[in-house]
Amino acid sequence: MIDYQPLYNVLLDAKADAWVNLLPQQLASALDLTRHGNLAQWQTVIECLPGLTTTHRLLDADAVQIGQFDDLPEAARMELEHQLKALHPWRKGPYNLAGINIDTEWRSDWKWDRLKNHITPLNHRLVLDVGCGNGYHCWRMLGAGAKMVIGIDPFLLNVMQFQLVRKLYGEAPVYVLPLGIEELPYGLKAFDTVFSMGVLYHRRSPIDHLLELRDCLQPGGELVLETLVIDGNLGEVLLPEGRYAKMRNVWFLPSCETLISWLKRCGYKNIRLIDAATTSIEEQRSTEWMQFHSLKDFLCTKNPRLTCEGLPAPKRAIFIANNA
Ligand SMILES: C[S@@+](CC[C@H](N)C(=O)[O-])C[C@H]1O[C@@H](n2cnc3c(N)ncnc32)[C@H](O)[C@@H]1O
Repeated sequence: MIDYQPLYNVLLDAKADAWVNLLPQQLASALDLTRHGNLAQWQTVIECLPGLTTTHRLLDADAVQIGQFDDLPEAARMELEHQLKALHPWRKGPYNLAGINIDTEWRSDWKWDRLKNHITPLNHRLVLDVGCGNGYHCWRMLGAGAKMVIGIDPFLLNVMQFQLVRKLYGEAPVYVLPLGIEELPYGLKAFDTVFSMGVLYHRRSPIDHLLELRDCLQPGGELVLETLVIDGNLGEVLLPEGRYAKMRNVWFLPSCETLISWLKRCGYKNIRLIDAATTSIEEQRSTEWMQFHSLKDFLCTKNPRLTCEGLPAPKRAIFIANNA
């Protein structure tokens, strides 16, 4: 069981009383066992994890590391590996837990490396990571000095993977809550830094997403936005008519210039594009820990610069901006 009191205390300090009043009910309802057929089984896996007493916790390396090979007897380590695999697929990472290397679908550390030297240092900052997946970047944010990191993600397997990792780590000012951004109360204005990475293109209304993110930030706070973009000029946007790289839920892919104009229109200041890169099949691929199809299978076999639907292959850009 996670003790949420430290989170409530920090949110109260940040004058986010409205959310603190809602959160217990939001958590109870999102984690209601009838909401997902596998939830009870995932929770049992977490309850049955071996106790890991270790001093080895490393949050500023490529793989989030908790414990070492020798921290568990072989039988317990094999059991842990079995328990970790019960929460397949592991998409975001890598992690190394008691010497078990979780080679996830994504090299999420590469995304972190692209942005870490561009953001305002996270020391003592209250951070929100919207659409945080299983919380890999939340751990890296904590490792970079954040006072507290709150991730939100509505996909329950992600939340359960996070809870598993957190149980092995022990008490820490990092939380992943089973919520979508639309469930946050209006007018929070509580966070020093807000990350939204890999979420904007999943939203049917990208402008509303940018406004919702701004609404979470303190005056002067920093947004770190990562999303799919296309090559093109100001005003150009791709709205796939059907699937994009086999994903059904992809909506707006703007050019970088267009996205900068959206950020301006939404009242952000000091807008910088810090990186734009085509996603490689080394960064996103099937592994033992994510055995379904991955990027290679979503690209055109004859021309890897196109998706299998004939659209521009995934290219991602990172923007930083400030709330006015
Ligand atoms: C492409 S993943 C990105 C994960 C991580 N931020 C990263 O950059 O590696 C998008 C995540 O957004 C989450 N998501 C989808 N709709 C959301 C919403 N309305 N609010 C918050 N997160 C959402 C998904 O469950 C998924 O984990």
